[in-house]
Amino acid sequence: MIDRYAVIGNPIAQSKSPLIHGMFAKATGQDLEYTRIEGPLDGFADAVRKFRDAGGRGMNVTAPFKLQAFELADERRERAQLAGAVNVLKFEGARIIADNFDGVGLVNDVQRNLGMAMAGKRVLLLGAGGAVRGVLLSFLQQRPAELVLAHRTEVKVLALAQQFSAHGPVRGCGYAGIGLQRFDLVVNATSASLTGDVPPVPPAVFATDGLAYELIYGKGLTPFLRLAQSAGVKRLADGVGMLVEQAAEAFLWWRGVRPDTRAALEKLTVPLV
Ligand code: ATR
Repeated sequence: MIDRYAVIGNPIAQSKSPLIHGMFAKATGQDLEYTRIEGPLDGFADAVRKFRDAGGRGMNVTAPFKLQAFELADERRERAQLAGAVNVLKFEGARIIADNFDGVGLVNDVQRNLGMAMAGKRVLLLGAGGAVRGVLLSFLQQRPAELVLAHRTEVKVLALAQQFSAHGPVRGCGYAGIGLQRFDLVVNATSASLTGDVPPVPPAVFATDGLAYELIYGKGLTPFLRLAQSAGVKRLADGVGMLVEQAAEAFLWWRGVRPDTRAALEKLTVPLV
């Protein structure tokens, strides 16, 4: 029987994961099938078990199920444990093992594809949701000079900074508390762009020779990226590279083979205009 994988979310029609994993499978000669599953909002766990019991080998998990996937797992790898959220499942017999590759995907995109080594850099991360928790450990592991977490509800980032403080220099603050410092890398991990909004980040935070990164992809120049652009930032990116790179990490975990990501990146990248 062919090895089966799927991405589960709700909605799911927009997911690019079947395309990406299909390209990886073809390029590496792996015989597998990868489909989309629209998980019922009140039946995520049943849908996962049904897929596993029908011979599924693994799943990608996307919104709104990343926290439920965390709860469902029998075993969580360290990154997923710290993030409190899961984006990949692997089935070993009846056991459900969970990991979170969002952080390593983003780091690989920033460092390998976009060419910014994060060691010694000043990094500003906006937001305090699942996406932020998913990338914090991987960011700190690159040894930035400082990682500042800014959010509209200061108390949330104070707690997050405290939780991750053993892993590197991280500080939390409200938007007004960012101060006048400039950052080499500014990442918008809020969902503000989905509603055409922009976090109230002062334009002075952007180093003009730095990189502004929007986690959401496929929306062109979002209000955040426009803000960065008008502040003089030349290097702008959306989250398509993170999507492809986290998929590559999942593929490696499932199949033991690392796919080359260049073809998928070329296929999915839409110019930011
Ligand atoms: P994800 O899993 O993608 O991180 P999430 O957990 O819903 O999604 O988190 C989205 C984050 O964007 C939240 O931190 C949210 O702020 P709250 O914690 O106050 O809800 C933040 N966010 C959403 N809209 C925003 C806006 N217009 N300005 C600033 N932050 C915003």
